[in-house]
Amino acid sequence: NERTFVAVKPDGVQRRLVGDIVHRFEKKGFKLVGMKLVQASEDLLKEHYRDLRAKPFFNGLIQYMSAGPVVAMVWQGLDVVKTSRKMMGETNPADSLPGTVRGDYCVEVGRNVIHGSDSVESAQREIALWFSQDELHCWEDHSIRWIYA
Ligand code: GTP
Ligand code: MG
Repeated sequence: NERTFVAVKPDGVQRRLVGDIVHRFEKKGFKLVGMKLVQASEDLLKEHYRDLRAKPFFNGLIQYMSAGPVVAMVWQGLDVVKTSRKMMGETNPADSLPGTVRGDYCVEVGRNVIHGSDSVESAQREIALWFSQDELHCWEDHSIRWIYA
């Protein structure tokens, strides 16, 4: 079963968007298998965003992401990586449609409220980076036959 890493960024926590964002993923039918409030270290964030280290905005990105706690989550379900990215909207909120998290709640790329893994491989790497095995829970989903045929 596919899993993805989603994080409500520090601006999303400050702006009290955690409940709304969690609710969207719950209502969709995805299963929450891990969640915690984390003050991420710069080292963790540099590793998390290592593919962007050459970008001019990298230092600002690390500052932004370490400016307060984030809500780190792992969600599971069919095509959850691709679908989560759709639910988030585009990197730039101005390109994000209403109905997406970024389309509904933010205006600037540097304060775009949510993170989601961009591929199954990234998801595996990010989940291993942010969570230990004992923080991930394989609970029995009693609504599974009402979500999957
Ligand atoms: P994440 O889910 O956070 O990984 O965003 P993404 O996959 O939509 O975009 P990407 O991985 O390319 O960039 C990671 C983050 O860096 C973005 O979400 C933004 O917060 C930030 N970022 C990306 N491009 C820019 C930019 O051009 N300027 C600034 N200031 N920040 C950027
Ligand atoms: Mg990304």
